[in-house]
Amino acid sequence: MTAFDTEDDILPRAGVIGWPVDHSRSPKLHGFWLAQYGLSGRYDKLPVPPEDVGAFLEALPKEPGFRGVNVTLPNKVAVLPYLAEIDPVAKRIGAVNTIVVREDGSLHGSNTDAFGFLASLRADAPKIWRAANGPAVVVGAGGASRAIIVALLDAGTPELRLTNRSRDKAEALAAEFGSRLQVVDWEERAASLAGTNLLVNTTSLGMGGQPPLDLPLDDLPVTALVNDIVYTPLETGLLAAARARGNPVVDGLGMLLHQGRPGFEAWFGVAPEVTMELRAAVLA
Ligand code: ATR
Repeated sequence: MTAFDTEDDILPRAGVIGWPVDHSRSPKLHGFWLAQYGLSGRYDKLPVPPEDVGAFLEALPKEPGFRGVNVTLPNKVAVLPYLAEIDPVAKRIGAVNTIVVREDGSLHGSNTDAFGFLASLRADAPKIWRAANGPAVVVGAGGASRAIIVALLDAGTPELRLTNRSRDKAEALAAEFGSRLQVVDWEERAASLAGTNLLVNTTSLGMGGQPPLDLPLDDLPVTALVNDIVYTPLETGLLAAARARGNPVVDGLGMLLHQGRPGFEAWFGVAPEVTMELRAAVLA
């Protein structure tokens, strides 16, 4: 802060720390909301390599106007030691994506990916899927999968079938998250779809430039909801195949948009909405 700054000149600020951070869509998301609600504030891309995360977070409370940050790859785990408090969901996921600077300058960390995932299914497929009504299949056992597993278990999924190319990673998650999680061998993934009411792809397969997800859907009940966390393209091969056989589908953009809501509200004081205009602006 310079001698010429007054309290009134200090805009509320937030941003996203990642490395690289150029690809992040969060500035578009939060920028759209700031404009929509006529708020003066800013949200920036903040390139921070993992080795600089500690120094960045120690300086953050002293930065004029800074209310907090989103955290993206590869920093979601690296931030943990620097937070005064971590909410229980983030602890279970083992990663933080949203940090709020509290009144006393201490840092609070949460993970809004599980919330974003459930909010997106509820908003984009209202009344179609209820967690308690059947088993779910989750493909993949990386960071995104952890958030979705926590979301589904908390929502009341009675049985979660987890399949991953490297079986050991799925086994580790089953050991951590308990008996409702059943590991399915990668070779058995197609057969595991029988009798389920939800299929989620949490891998990067199907993303532009990546191989497609090879998963025949013949055994999937036609009433089951199909979700892909990939949103480039919006209609992945998995979603196109599911739609063609009559399954309801939800694309991956909703999770990205809904996960941003709690942070925006904490930093800028308005609970934002997810609209078609927002979807178009973030995709552009
Ligand atoms: P994220 O944090 O985004 O979930 P990640 O931790 O790198 O990313 O996890 C990527 C997931 O996609 C993993 O489940 C990975 O499977 P492995 O554990 O076997 O690596 C899965 N994945 C990536 N490429 C794959 C491929 N070609 N075939 C099958 N699974 C793949």
